[in-house]
Amino acid sequence: MGKQRQTQDHYFREAKRLGYVSRAAFKLLEIDEKQGILAKGSRVLDVGCAPGAWLQVAAERVGKKGRIVGIDLKRVGVSLPSNVQTVQGDVFETDVADLTGMAGGLFDVVISDAAPDTTGDPTGDHFRSIRLCDHILTILPALLLPGGPVVMKAFEGESYPDLLARMRTMFAKVKGVKPKASRSISREMFVVGLTFDPGA
Ligand SMILES: C[S@@+](CC[C@H](N)C(=O)[O-])C[C@H]1O[C@@H](n2cnc3c(N)ncnc32)[C@H](O)[C@@H]1O
Repeated sequence: MGKQRQTQDHYFREAKRLGYVSRAAFKLLEIDEKQGILAKGSRVLDVGCAPGAWLQVAAERVGKKGRIVGIDLKRVGVSLPSNVQTVQGDVFETDVADLTGMAGGLFDVVISDAAPDTTGDPTGDHFRSIRLCDHILTILPALLLPGGPVVMKAFEGESYPDLLARMRTMFAKVKGVKPKASRSISREMFVVGLTFDPGA
């Protein structure tokens, strides 16, 4: 068995053992461990939240006093604590005020694992993924508190540097990270922006 396959099987088994609905949980756990994104009591928006592993991780990290709102095209079926609310919808069409209304104010943190369904056309998938990230950046001033962090999945490709450049105009620190739980052959990266400056 190849090393890549062994690693993925390991995360799959660990997700089962720990009760996470998918191994995506380990991507957020690793990013959070290294970047310190989620704090007790935080209000978190999770874009592209189904089937719900990131919601499970976020709920553990923010605790009972935190609040989590998730949005996805698909319905989230997994059972979650009462401080997690989800809406089924398209982030391109959702009224941002509805999301902040559910949380009772602007979010401390915005995370997005949202991705288009992959089509086998890596260039098209890349542009659709960047379009999602760009949209989140556009609506961010109405979502995220000044100083807050963002984490977004992005498929690498020709517009990836432009995405990082745009983020550098909005955040004090920007980096692209590749968690161990992310398949090394996939073009998936996670862009992290720290210390949001809405006036920039
Ligand atoms: C990789 S999955 C997310 C996995 C999730 N983070 C978890 O831990 O369970 C990507 C999700 O993005 C969602 N998505 C893609 N485009 C979207 C959009 N425009 N609005 C909302 N959700 C979207 C998909 O429906 C899909 O469920």
